[in-house]
This record gives sequence, C-alpha cells and structure tokens, in this order.
Amino acid sequence: MTVLFADVVHSMDIAAAVGPERLREIMADLADRCAAVVQRYGGTVDKFTGDGIMAVFGAPVALEDHAVRACLAALAIQREVQVVAEGVKRGDDVDLRLRVGLNSGQVIAGEIGSGALGYTSVGEQVGMAQRMESVAPPDGVMLSESTARLVQAAASLAEPEMVHIKGADEPVVAKRLLAVGPQRERLGSAQTALVGRDLEVATIAGLLDRSASGRGCVVCVAGPAGIGKTRLVGEAERLANGRDIAVFSTFCESHAIDIAFHAIARLLRVAVGVSGLDDDEAAREQVRSTFSDAGAEDLMLLYDLLGIQDAGVAMPNIEPDARRRRLTALINSMSLASTTPALYVIEDAHWIDEASESMLADFLAVIPQTHFTTLITYRPEYRGALAQVSGAQTISLAPLADSETIALLDELLGSDPSVAAIKSVIAGRVAGNPFFAQEIVRELAERRVLEGARGEYTCRTDISDVSVPGTLHATIAARIDRLGADAKETLNAAAVVGSRFIADTLKSLGIAPVVEDLVRAELIDQVRFTPYAEYAFHHPLVRTVAYESQLKSDRARLHRRVADTIAQEDQNAALLAEHLEAAGDLRNAFDWHMRAGAWFHFRDIAAAHTSWRRARQVADRLPEDHPQRSSMRIAPRTLLVGTAWRVAGTRLDTSFEELRDLCTDAGDQQSLAIGLAGFVTTITVNGDDSREASRRATELMELLDSVGDSTLTLAMCFAPLIAKHWTGESVEGLRFAQRSIDAAEGDATRGALVGGTPLAMAIVMRGVARYCLGHAGWKDDIHDALAMADRVGELMARVGIRNYAHVEAIVNGVLASDASVLQDAAETLATTEKVGDDFQLLVARLTRGVNLIHQHGGPERAAGLELLTGLREAAEGEQFPNPGLVPLIDIYIAKEHSQLGDIDGAVERCRTVIDGLFAKRAIVWTASATAVLVEALLCRGSDSDLREARAAIDRLAAVPTDPGFVVHEIWLLRLRALLARAHGDDCAYRGYRDRYRAMATELGFEGHMQWAEAMP
Ligand SMILES: Nc1ncnc2c1ncn2[C@@H]1O[C@H](COP(=O)(O)OP(=O)(O)O)[C@@H](O)[C@H]1O
Ligand SMILES: [Mg+2]
Repeated sequence: MTVLFADVVHSMDIAAAVGPERLREIMADLADRCAAVVQRYGGTVDKFTGDGIMAVFGAPVALEDHAVRACLAALAIQREVQVVAEGVKRGDDVDLRLRVGLNSGQVIAGEIGSGALGYTSVGEQVGMAQRMESVAPPDGVMLSESTARLVQAAASLAEPEMVHIKGADEPVVAKRLLAVGPQRERLGSAQTALVGRDLEVATIAGLLDRSASGRGCVVCVAGPAGIGKTRLVGEAERLANGRDIAVFSTFCESHAIDIAFHAIARLLRVAVGVSGLDDDEAAREQVRSTFSDAGAEDLMLLYDLLGIQDAGVAMPNIEPDARRRRLTALINSMSLASTTPALYVIEDAHWIDEASESMLADFLAVIPQTHFTTLITYRPEYRGALAQVSGAQTISLAPLADSETIALLDELLGSDPSVAAIKSVIAGRVAGNPFFAQEIVRELAERRVLEGARGEYTCRTDISDVSVPGTLHATIAARIDRLGADAKETLNAAAVVGSRFIADTLKSLGIAPVVEDLVRAELIDQVRFTPYAEYAFHHPLVRTVAYESQLKSDRARLHRRVADTIAQEDQNAALLAEHLEAAGDLRNAFDWHMRAGAWFHFRDIAAAHTSWRRARQVADRLPEDHPQRSSMRIAPRTLLVGTAWRVAGTRLDTSFEELRDLCTDAGDQQSLAIGLAGFVTTITVNGDDSREASRRATELMELLDSVGDSTLTLAMCFAPLIAKHWTGESVEGLRFAQRSIDAAEGDATRGALVGGTPLAMAIVMRGVARYCLGHAGWKDDIHDALAMADRVGELMARVGIRNYAHVEAIVNGVLASDASVLQDAAETLATTEKVGDDFQLLVARLTRGVNLIHQHGGPERAAGLELLTGLREAAEGEQFPNPGLVPLIDIYIAKEHSQLGDIDGAVERCRTVIDGLFAKRAIVWTASATAVLVEALLCRGSDSDLREARAAIDRLAAVPTDPGFVVHEIWLLRLRALLARAHGDDCAYRGYRDRYRAMATELGFEGHMQWAEAMP
C-alpha cells in the first residue's frame, strides 16, 4: 500500500492572518476536494488532520498499482490546491500551499480490517510518508525510495536527494515526483520474474547496441500464443530504456486484418507523436515540424494516411502507387537522416492488414542503414512479408524447458510441500507455455483448489481429485465462466470493441462497466490513468475466448451498438462495415464495404479489392428473396473484374463467369460490358492467351454495338482495341475504332469514367490499325491523339497513348525515334514517377528505355539497356504490373546483347520470345522478334544458323494475317534481303532491298526508311 500525507505550509501564519473561522472554511473546502481526488484514484481518506489529509492506496482493497494511483492523486491534489489558493489569495491575501509526501510499504495481512486501518500496524509507513511530506518543497510531492521504485517506469522523477529526517541518524534517499506519463507499462498485473530466455535477451541487447551504432536491424520474434513474445518485447523495451533509446510501439488486432492502413497509421501516429493529440490542426503542425523538408503534397499524403487531413482541402490527384512511393521515400529519408537510436515494435503481425504490411516492408528495407531496431512479433502460422525481410534476425521462441517451467511455478505457487504434486501436474500439462501455466494457477486458485495468495499457496485437495483444464483456451474459458454477471458482461462487450477500451465506450454501449474484478483476475490490465482510464486485455487470447464464448445473438447486438458509436465517415467505413457485418446487418454492411472500397480506390487498389470482396460475400449471404440481392451481387463483382488488371499479380478467376450469369439474368448489360472489358484487359496485361482475349473482345464489341450507348462504348473501347491489336486483327480493330470515334462526336472526354480521353485512345488505335493495314492517315491519327491526350492532361491517357505512338510504332519501324521523342519520354517519366501508378510507371519507363536504345549515341543506348534490364528483373517478382510487356522488353534486351557481341544469349532469348508469342497467338511483336533473331543468326553465320534464319522467316511468312496487313510483309522483305546477302546471292539481295526501300517509302514508315537506306 501507499500512504499519502499532505499538509498546508505555514498553517499557523495563515490562521493568524485570516482567523480560525475562515481557516476552518478554507480547510473544509480543501478537504472535500482532496477527498474527491483520492476517491477518483481508488484510495481511501483515512483522516483529516487539522491542516492536512492522510489517504491510503492499496488498502483495504488490494490495488496492485497503488503507488501509481497515489502519485496521480498527489499531482491532482496539488492542482486542486492551486484552485483554492487563487481564491484565498484574492480574498484573504495569503499564500496557501501544500506539501505532499508518499511512502509505500507492505501491510501485514489481517491487519487491514473491514474499513478502518489499525494505525499501529501501519504506523511506520505513515511516519515515513509524513517525513517525506516534511522535506517536500511547497507545491511539491516527495516520494520515499520505496514508492519511487514502484513508479519509476510510469513516472518521471527528479534526481535523488539525500534528506535528513526526524528519527534517523543517516540521511535517506527521496525523489521528487515531476509527472506521471501516459502509461506504456502495464500496471494491472504484477509480473512474474523472467525465467530463461537469457540468450534471447542477450541477443536483443546486442542488436540494440549494434543498431544504435548505425547498423540497424529487424528482429522477428515468432512463437505460439502465450509463449512469451510480448514478455520478450517488454524486456527489449526495458533494455532500450536503460540505453536511452526511444520506444515506439503498435499492435495488430484480429478484427482489423481487413482494415487497410490500420496498423501502419497507428505506428506512424505514435512515431510522429500525434497519437495523443485530439486536435487535427495541432497534429498537422506536429507533422510539419517533424518533416520540415517535406513538400506540401507529400505532407498532405501523410496527413491522409494518419487520418488528420483537413477535410476542407482537396487531395491532389495522385495515384495510389505514387502515394505509396512518395510516402516511402519520405519516411525512409527521414529514417536514414536520423541518428537518434529508436526501437520500433510491431506486435502480433499475424493480424496485420495487407496495405500496412507491404508499406512496412518498404520501410524496413532501409533499416540496416539506420540507427533503428524494429521488433516484430507474430505467431508461427504467419508467412507474410514481414516474416521474410531479408537480413532480419528471427528468434523462434521455444517452449520453456521443464526446469524453467518449474521455476515459474515455484514463484507462482511457492514452496509449500502441499503444492509439489500439483506443480508437476501443471508442468506436465502446459508444455512449456508460461501463459498456460499462469492461467492454470489462476484457475485453480479461483476454484480454491489452491488456497492462499500468489507465491504461498497451499493445497488441501487430493491431487487425484483435481481436474486440470486440457488447453489454454479451455482454462481461460473456465475462468471467464466463473466471473460474476456484471464482470462477464463487461468483458464480453470489451471483446467486441477491441483489444483496448475505455470505460466510456462501454457505457455508451449501455453496459455499466465493472472493471475491478477483471483487473484483479488479471483478465484485463489498466494501461492508462490520465486523462482517462484505459484498459487492455491481458492477452489477446483472453479477448478471443471472451469473444467466442458469447452467444452469437448477444455479440451481434453489441456489434450493432459499437457501430452506432462510430462516426459515419469514409475513414471509418471499413471498420463500420466490419461491425455491421458482425451485427448481421447485411444491408448496411454492404454499403459500408462498398464505401470503404471507394475510399481505398484512391489509396490502395488492392485494399479496395479487399473491401469489394467483402461486399461480394455479404451480398451472397442475403436471402434469396431480398429485392436488391441481384444488383448487390453484381456491383462488387463488376468492380472486381473491371479493375482486376490494376492489381499486380491478379489472375483471372471464375468470378467473371459468375458475373456474366448474374448480368444475363438481371439484364444488366452495362455491368456485363464493364466486366468483359476488365476481363479482356486482364488477359492482355498478364500476357495470357490472346485468342481468349480476342474472342471476349468480339463479344464485347457486339454487346456495345447492340446496347448502342455512346458513353458506354467509349468508356470500354480501349479493351477490345488493344486485344485486337495484339492478335493482328486490324480490320476489326479499325472498324471498331471508327465506331468509337463516331460515338464521341468530337467530345474528348465522353465516356471518361475515371478520367482520361477515350476518344484519343480510339484515335491512336485507329492510327495503329491504319498503319498495320497500310492505310493513309495513320500519322495524323497518332499526332492528333497525342495532342488530344496532352490537352486533356490525364496521365493514364498521356502514358497509354505514348505506348502506341512512341513504343509500338517505333518497334514496328513505322515511326523513328528522335531527340524530341526522347525528351518527351523523359518528361512523361518524371511526371509519372510523381503521380502515376506502377502500371503507368512501367509503361513510361519502357517508353524511355526503348527510345534511349534507338538513339545513335553509345551512352544513351547503354542507359536504355540498363533501364530495360531493370524492368526485366522486376518482372521476375510477383508484383510486376504488366507481365504482358515482357516479350517486348526481351526483344530489346536481345537486340542490345546481340549488338554487344552476346549472340548466343540473344538467339536463345529470341527463340523463347517467339515461341511464347506463337503459343499465345500474339501477333503484335512477332515480326520484330523474328527480325532480331534472324539478324543475330546471320551475324553468327554457320550453316545451321542460316537454316534456322530461313525457317524463322518462313514461319513469320506463314502467319495468317488480315488482308492488306503490311507489317509482316515489310519486315519479310528486309529479312529476305539480309538472308540472300548472307548466302552471297547478290542479285536476290538487291531485288529484295529495292522492294523494301520502295515499300517503306510508299508507306511512309520512317523507321524502315532509315534502315533500308542504311543497307549497302
Ligand atoms: N520467460 C518467461 N518468464 C516468466 N513469465 C513469462 C515468460 N514468458 C512469458 N511469461 C508470461 O506469460 C504470459 C504470456 O506471455 P506473453 O509474452 O504475453 O505471450 P505471447 O506474447 O507470446 O502471446 C505473460 O504473463 C508473461 O509475463
Ligand atoms: Mg503477445
């Protein structure tokens, strides 16, 4: 217990100045206020002295955090005194000041009766508190050494002072209390001593030191629930505190696994120091001062992530991937610049949401070059990105050794001979899991199989009559079951809210919270005292069991009430949807999932997909006769299929077929069109079978024609146009491009569902089809489309159209690259890096790379190859946004390798590309791939090379194409000329060469004209 002693300074002088009557009045006011404070912090006012107060914390009810409570009360009393003092100063012109002293000590059991304290038994403790009071400065609070020790983790204290007190010859240590911070340490439970884990602790200590010296590290702590991960984190935090290393921590929760950015936002809020700020403007100011070099846009992105954005300010138009790149750059440059060591903790990463996980993985990449240690805990089943950080140190927590379990049980149970037998039963049951051991002991104590108090239990039951729960889960369940109705209700409601909760939240759910029993039972801990009490589940498993043990209908009611307390804002959409879904309110859950999807659509497309998938599930669970069931099942599917191509690594799944059936039943042609377009685009983006894409594209074009809605046609026209280009079906492509252009009636933005200019897209694709078929007008089309895209200014259009104008056309020798195109590519790339998504960035890089390679200068070509080689390496990863472009990248790499002398490598690569293109019936780059192969083979020049070259040419010539398709024809003239020359057939060579020149000139194909001129 802790005794608080407060006394008015120079009360005699005050009495002399104001008279005894007035003094009594002042003291009564003061005493009332103090009593209220003491009560608020769970203490008992023991006595009013004439000019002071004495209070006791931790008795008669045992409060294990009595010292902290007493400190909080002492500070609050000093604040109350200020209020009274102001009045006294004004009215009476005297100074009213108070000294407070605290002392903590053991209370002998049995001497604390049913209310009043036996003074004699605690006389010693009171005496020390009184002496501390006497040496405290006016307005100050002085702690004895014993109190100081108990609160050191939670409070900030002044340097120790040696003070002389009455009745002691030697001076004693005392510390002045300065403040009690928001708690990071858990105060509810008295922890057992750490057993074992010497190696783990030493490892972490070593890594903390290494990080502090500038070689930062990531430490993963893996192990099943209750094995001691959090405990080890606690040790790490203690080690960090001892080294003056700041600690920032966050934790993931089971119910937030689908709430994008939940974990990362919380960690950043702590790290940036805004988590305690209620005022958004103050929080933004804090962010600005932390990131003083950051640009305005970057700051806005950060505000948005932290949830402190100014609702009145519009967000800049920045694609999700660009947001992520910029935030990563911002955070990482900050991490790299900081030389202050810090420890970042992410607990329970097995529950991390995907968006946070991948963002965090990017942040962790620079940790080795920082002064930071990052500690991540998770259960063994977690296999995500954070468990695979390269260079991370992983500590797999093994079960405690038998001797360690026994040591733990010795501490928990004591050494009375009567508990020896039960100790070995427990040790045998818990398999080295310390939490399991603790819970069994608690359970047995609650059942009175164990009697007495912790560390000194006795057991009077015959061991053969004692049943011990079989699992940790069952043990916790048994304990919860035994709670009183009110406490159980509190615990259950809290489990629905989250791992942490404040009493007010429960009150707003209509629950009268009863926390004392739960704290005492160590099912929850108080983790914060000021400015309001906050509680946390002692362990996530307690929450899980409390959650699962409830009747589903009760739980649903609670979820509904929790949902009602959450502000209906976009930021909360995912959380609201979660609660509403658990409440069984499918209709509203659906709406909020969809709203969350819309919110994430601009932040993280994969997160949007998660929300849409959840909406899809909810809609599917609606009763058959629900009036909106059909449209609700269609809407999320349409979005999922329609944007699948934007999520890197997404493959086609069966949901398209489902969508088609649903749309057909409902007669919803618009959704079907959107789904088909997404389906076709996903195939082309992934580089899958072009025949399939072409079939679907035909279906889509027919559908659009039959619907006859010009806006819809334009909105979806890109998909079939691209698909038809891939398969070389230029006649159809041309027809549909023309239809789309007609549908626009000159309106550049008609059908621009998500920005951009469908008309410009249709025009450039008409240009492409026209050059493929050798029709006039292609050059104007390409030119007009570029101009229109730049006028509209939307990035996707700008980048996408350049892909056709400045990559496709150049690959096919239709246009030639030059300095201005190269410059344009550089500018587009710079913009894309700032605001574009990964898909656009890839295309912009490819455009730049291809045009660099087409320059004549050596260094530019080399830079181009380097750029493309980088893209090719990225394509090996799962997150590559457009695998369909890989053959094109390979063609250029082969071409450059061949030019640099690696003929064998080039030939090998080309063969693979060509076989792949044939297998997928992608006509689009077959000719240029064949050209690179043939030229490489001819350069190597063996008989078999020449045979292979001829075969490759014949294979290209045999590809069926639309009537009038000139792209293959012109390449064939060139390749046949080269082959003839290799055979020494000069006459044939000249014949083909001249026809090649003539055709290039006639068609106006600039690239071919240049190449043909260069032929001897
Ligand atoms: N090595 C240990 N020595 C003593 N107590 C331990 C030890 N490891 C864990 N505990 C205790 O066991 C309980 C569960 O541990 P915790 O760290 O919360 O597990 P986890 O985080 O792995 O689920 C806690 O009360 C903790 O104090
Ligand atoms: Mg834990």
